[in-house]
Amino acid sequence: MYLLTMLSLINKRVGIELPSKLLYINQKHISSSIENNFFVRNLKLFEFEKVITEWSKKEGWNPGLYEYLPFYNACQDGHKGLFSNDNRLIASLSAVRYDKEFVFLGMYIVDPNYREQGIGNTLVRTVLEELEDGSLLGINGVTQQVGNYQRKYGFVPYYNNFRFSGVFRDQTCKNLFFRSEKKFKIIGRESLDINQLIDYDASVFSHVREGFLRKWVEMPESYLLAATEKEKICGYGVVSKSLNGYKLAPFFAKNEEVAKNLCVSFLSKFSGEIMQMDIPETNQSAVALAIRLGLFTTFKTERMYKGPERLIKQQDEQINQVYAHTTLELG
Ligand SMILES: CC(C)(COP(=O)(O)OP(=O)(O)OC[C@H]1O[C@@H](n2cnc3c(N)ncnc32)[C@H](O)[C@@H]1OP(=O)(O)O)[C@@H](O)C(=O)NCCC(=O)NCCS
Repeated sequence: MYLLTMLSLINKRVGIELPSKLLYINQKHISSSIENNFFVRNLKLFEFEKVITEWSKKEGWNPGLYEYLPFYNACQDGHKGLFSNDNRLIASLSAVRYDKEFVFLGMYIVDPNYREQGIGNTLVRTVLEELEDGSLLGINGVTQQVGNYQRKYGFVPYYNNFRFSGVFRDQTCKNLFFRSEKKFKIIGRESLDINQLIDYDASVFSHVREGFLRKWVEMPESYLLAATEKEKICGYGVVSKSLNGYKLAPFFAKNEEVAKNLCVSFLSKFSGEIMQMDIPETNQSAVALAIRLGLFTTFKTERMYKGPERLIKQQDEQINQVYAHTTLELG
């Protein structure tokens, strides 16, 4: 309370903008030096952009060049920062609430100069405190953190996601894939009904993510293709520019045939380019497809959940349609 009162007084005297939302650092879990020297508030767009373009780049996460805007739009008050009292950003954590039943956590980074002092833990606990309302919480944990998330916060690992990367080669793959007749129509962004896409995406992702998706498909240097059958969408993918090469994300398809058809179309457009895909190991057809594409694993994360078993089951009901996740940070 003290912090908010102080800020209100400063605000009145010098007319500065009061941070949009402050979360109180939970005193039960932290040392008094953290409580007195730092505060947590929502990140503004330019601060979030810095987390994506500078911080996640330094971690080697190969961020998309334009993804900060759709990410931010997914849940504008979900991106939290821990700041020093002179308003320097020290740590970030996103908690994207898709609806009342599902929240995904990501972008968990602490400034390297402040690590191993309990800052990360303080931010996680402060954010979790706000979220503990019976909804399902998801996270993709890097291997080093899985034990921590389990022990400290009660997340349970469910399956691995493998990052596959490599150069897309048009000719080899065309030879490998196709003898089957083409039953699907492949269409581009210009012929697509965006509302139909939002519905199809929700049927696979298990939650509507309209705000995010509208911005995601409009990113500069991105390329969308969808497969349709009897005028209905049965698969789609978006290739977008990353710091290093491109990523195919998301890549959803009703079955392997649809996935292969979409792949061939992407291959002809991006032949010779480095491509990255984050694939759930539980979709064996997707893993096999990536291997046939000549991609290889470079990185592993574990999908972890905390919440009611019923919601966990629902969440991954359509995992067999996930040929690549949209992002490791937002689910
Ligand atoms: C993961 C990450 C966010 C953790 O942040 P952090 O501030 O270093 O985390 P904490 O300090 O709260 O905890 C880490 C360790 O610091 C030590 N620590 C905690 N409080 C401490 C304190 N007051 N004094 C000294 N050491 C302390 C503990 O050893 C703790 O390890 P433990 O969990 O085995 O007890 C940070 O390491 C990071 O940014 N990593 C790179 C990005 C990344 O991998 N993010 C996770 C993606 S899933």
